[in-house]
Amino acid sequence: MRACAWLAIIALIPWTSGFKVEDFKRCSDSAFCTRLRGSSGEAYAVLPNSVAVAGSQISAQVKHEASGALFQLAITAYEGTVRLTVDEADPSVGRFHVPEVLLPELPQQERPWTKVSQTRSSLRASLGAAAVELGYSPLKLVLNVDGAPAVTFNADSMFAFEHRRAKGEEDPEGWWEEMFKGHRDSKPKGPEAISFDLAFPGVRHVYGLPQHASALALPPTTGLADNATSEPYRLYNLDVFEYAVDSPFGLYGSIPLLWAQRLGLTVAAFWLNAAEMYVDVEHAGGGVRTQWVAESGVLDLFLLLGPSPAEVSRQYARLTGTTAMPQEFALGYHQCRWNYRDEADVRAVDAGFDRHDIPYDVIWLDIEHTDGKRYFTWDAALFPEPEALQEDIASRGRRTVTIIDPHIKRDPGYHIYSEAARLDYFVKDRDGKEFDGWCWPGSSAYLDMLNPAARDWWAKLFQLDAYKGSTPHLYVWNDMNEPSVFNGPEITMHKDSLHFGGVEHRSVHNLYGALYHNATAQGLLERGTAVHGEDGDRPFVLSRAFFAGSQRIGPIWTGDNSATWEQLRISVPMLLSIGLAGLPFSGADVGGFFGNPEEELLVRWYQAGAFYPFFRGHAHLDTKRREPWLFGEAATERIRVAIRARYAMLPYLYTLFQAAHAEGLPIMRPLAFEFPGEAWALGADDAFMLGPGLLVAPVLEPGAAQRALRLPAPGPWYSATTGEAAAPGEHTLDVTLDSVPAYLRGGAILPFKERARRSTGAMARDPLTLVVALDAAGAAAGELYVDDGRSFAYRRGVFLHRRFEFAGSVLTSRPAPGGGGAMASGVTVERLVVLGLQPGREWGAQRDGAPLDVAPGPLLLRPGLPRSALVVRKLGLPLDADWAVTFLPGGAVA
Ligand code: GLC
Repeated sequence: MRACAWLAIIALIPWTSGFKVEDFKRCSDSAFCTRLRGSSGEAYAVLPNSVAVAGSQISAQVKHEASGALFQLAITAYEGTVRLTVDEADPSVGRFHVPEVLLPELPQQERPWTKVSQTRSSLRASLGAAAVELGYSPLKLVLNVDGAPAVTFNADSMFAFEHRRAKGEEDPEGWWEEMFKGHRDSKPKGPEAISFDLAFPGVRHVYGLPQHASALALPPTTGLADNATSEPYRLYNLDVFEYAVDSPFGLYGSIPLLWAQRLGLTVAAFWLNAAEMYVDVEHAGGGVRTQWVAESGVLDLFLLLGPSPAEVSRQYARLTGTTAMPQEFALGYHQCRWNYRDEADVRAVDAGFDRHDIPYDVIWLDIEHTDGKRYFTWDAALFPEPEALQEDIASRGRRTVTIIDPHIKRDPGYHIYSEAARLDYFVKDRDGKEFDGWCWPGSSAYLDMLNPAARDWWAKLFQLDAYKGSTPHLYVWNDMNEPSVFNGPEITMHKDSLHFGGVEHRSVHNLYGALYHNATAQGLLERGTAVHGEDGDRPFVLSRAFFAGSQRIGPIWTGDNSATWEQLRISVPMLLSIGLAGLPFSGADVGGFFGNPEEELLVRWYQAGAFYPFFRGHAHLDTKRREPWLFGEAATERIRVAIRARYAMLPYLYTLFQAAHAEGLPIMRPLAFEFPGEAWALGADDAFMLGPGLLVAPVLEPGAAQRALRLPAPGPWYSATTGEAAAPGEHTLDVTLDSVPAYLRGGAILPFKERARRSTGAMARDPLTLVVALDAAGAAAGELYVDDGRSFAYRRGVFLHRRFEFAGSVLTSRPAPGGGGAMASGVTVERLVVLGLQPGREWGAQRDGAPLDVAPGPLLLRPGLPRSALVVRKLGLPLDADWAVTFLPGGAVA
């Protein structure tokens, strides 16, 4: 019966073989992109008498010479950021402004302009180290940082703003109706696209604009050899089956944020616009030129002026927020499959991890756990006792996740459907009737998440008494929220569908999934308060679709990849680019969703995935079972080592998440983020940094006997597996299937927990090892952040945040700058491993005059320590108190 049901589902899926390029639009299939891509020379001019500078704002009127249409322009100054907005001068036109993305406190960050000069042809003003020059005719905005041009708006006269007009005035093809593969888009508002160009002089590489399965340094799309062009980068949230690698096609999420980096300067551009967008990249004149085109909305462009990569991350975080602080369990390993069949299957998988001594934290239930894809329900035959199941899993410190998608089965007997229909919470079609699309349950209605009342209503469905069969140990997975509509144009919703307030789907499309994700997280937040009181419970909701600001909600993953080496390879730049776009909590399906990975690929994927911020194995229902112990003892051992290494790193990773939460820094970082002065590192994406202290160079090729690696200056670096020092520069490493090249940065102190346990919860009170990796001057520093790993009590100061420093042969622990917090943790520092002490000497150590137990010992991922490493054992140093350990040459203790 079950098997038949699955077969029936497969038959419904419109895609049964690989990526079908013809299902998706190219620029030439889209009227607005065809009209505006590469087109320049429309004359727009600032009206000189309209220009005014008042406080943080420069304002002006702009005229389109050919039509006489008028626009309102504003240039607003913030700390490190300049915002350029252009809208129709007549506000009653009511073009769509993207809600819910910018932080409400943004206005408090406005800074006053200093007017430098104003003439009949231009205005110059400054803001700290930045200066702007607004040229009037043609309209042009030049931004300088420290006296050098950093970015120019409209250098190539590609600015165009299609003003709202009445039908009939003009009626060229594609203005008032367009077709794609038999789908009609009625376009009642006519043409309303916007285009502009941005030039980044001297820039070597541009990054960002996720999500694309492409290299970190975005390959050019125009100005190629023989003046050829490729497709532009497309930002349009789509459910793409077996997506192609090294492609500019749009995928599940979109963040219109582009980074531009040259030696000594990193800047970025963020266009807050949720409509379909295309971006061209061209390397020309020693810099990079870009053209941006979106189908509707307004121009709302933020130019982030750096100058360092970390500053760009902070500037973007000040606009759209930082990553939500995750629960600690969310950083453990997640085991997913479409589908764990029934309760017995779930219990067997759970027991399998214990039997094989592999830690894991979360078991996931895909769509088959429901009663006919009616979310918030359970298949009574397969999951008769869901609460008992979750409690049992929780008794071993683990959690359960269920999937809940935004398409609602149109079944009047299904309480979620009937209630939402009664309350009028569904998206409408162009005729004002309930939008009816095809998805997993068959005929489905789609929640209108632009309606705040619908979001509030949705959030309440997660209360324990509303979601029958749920427990406080249950968390959520939101999928198909691009939204996926199997029988819609490009497998998504018609653009002329209507949302709350009469807003066309066209303008909200890329935001839709994030609104849905947020409403779900809000539900778990409210449930947490109801269950646990005011300290609550941090939500965990994984989403497939995302937009700018999604970092405030929860993790995302890169969707339906395949079990191929090229998909493993591309996962690294994909996650790096998503991280640069402010969304650090991300991962790719380990093992590849489609297809059956061979043993070597699966092992290599676990070895790389152990460093993904979000670490989950997942597989399509047609694939063979692939729990970590099904590939023989050698593979099981390698996967065990990889997953245990992940758990050993958790104190470091959790500390990185706190930094991401506090400041907006990425977790997985390009080398050029940490080493912007290394010319070769700009654009490098086959190795990456996990935070500031660990360089990871996973093996991503089949049959590899060697792995080329370049370590940035100044070094030294230390192998994370042997502790051996390595100099900056090029290396060719001999590798085996056991090798996971990773290096500790000289100058870093990293906290680890080394005992093997079954889950994060079981490790909570385990003691720590601090690995001190000395720089050339014999110094190092690092931090550790600890809280209860679950609630919001940290907001009341219930945490410990320590800073460790090694200088002059003394290691100290002090409160971190900004406050060390207070918490009874019971956790101590048990061991110190110091790498890089002067070799050939015996070293001793003491605390408060008392000698300490010093000996060489095994290091982290694999046993083995060089002679120059020193291990101090049996310490019991408290986390919540200041202390100092003094190292003494000669082995003698004074
Ligand atoms: C989508 C998801 C995938 C999931 C499947 C069934 O393809 O991307 O992860 O397993 O739907 O829910």
